[in-house]
Amino acid sequence: MFRNAIVRRPASSMVQGISSHPELGKPDYELALRQHSAYKATLRLCGLELRELDCDERYPDSCFVEDVAVCTKAFAMLARPGAPSRAGETEGMAALLAEYWREVESIKAPGSLEGGDVMMVGDHFYIGLSARTNREGAGQFMAALERHGLSGSLIEMPELLHLKTGLAWLEDGTLLTTREFLDHPAFKAFRKIVVPEHEAYAANCIRVNDRVIMPSGYPETEGKIRDSGFAVSLVDSSEYRKLDGGLSCLSLRF
Ligand code: GLY
Repeated sequence: MFRNAIVRRPASSMVQGISSHPELGKPDYELALRQHSAYKATLRLCGLELRELDCDERYPDSCFVEDVAVCTKAFAMLARPGAPSRAGETEGMAALLAEYWREVESIKAPGSLEGGDVMMVGDHFYIGLSARTNREGAGQFMAALERHGLSGSLIEMPELLHLKTGLAWLEDGTLLTTREFLDHPAFKAFRKIVVPEHEAYAANCIRVNDRVIMPSGYPETEGKIRDSGFAVSLVDSSEYRKLDGGLSCLSLRF
């Protein structure tokens, strides 16, 4: 059960955010703000109390607040983004996390870790080794998990930005996955909902309390999730997609 979420208002500099899809064009800032409002309203409908950080124009990608921390039931981990332009986004986050957790740890150099590479499945955390999360950072996080009675495992990544670009844990034993992870031995035990290749972006969904929040415009994936017994809420995230960002990236939920 999640009770809280931290979000960060998008900066108008988001039009300069990192993107591996320049062909999609630059985000429309006003539309992005409206989509952010709809996203926040949906989180509130799911019963979450929201804490919204001010926008920070120095960091175009700072609305993707999930990448700067990992929240567990026992402690919070301040991340250390692997993208140099995002390094300063952690400023102020440790103090904020300390309002909610007695123990706040942090990833230290030369480790790097972004929250988008961490998928929580109960007390176990899957950690993707990506261009943003290195072995040292993942190792530090694993060690912290173990100190707190939790566990983790490493996932070698295919060509995806983050682990949760291609995977979402929907709970009730169910993993939403792109084809990249379909036969991965680490996920053998789970029931799988497979996202068709032409809807790959829809793999970035979030289960928040009684429902799955997913991006609008992906009808095959939506149908599969509904047919598997989940209630679904749709949020348009087209402007965040242009920056490789999705619904999980836009909040820290705990
Ligand atoms: N544009 C989101 C990221 O690259 O981190």
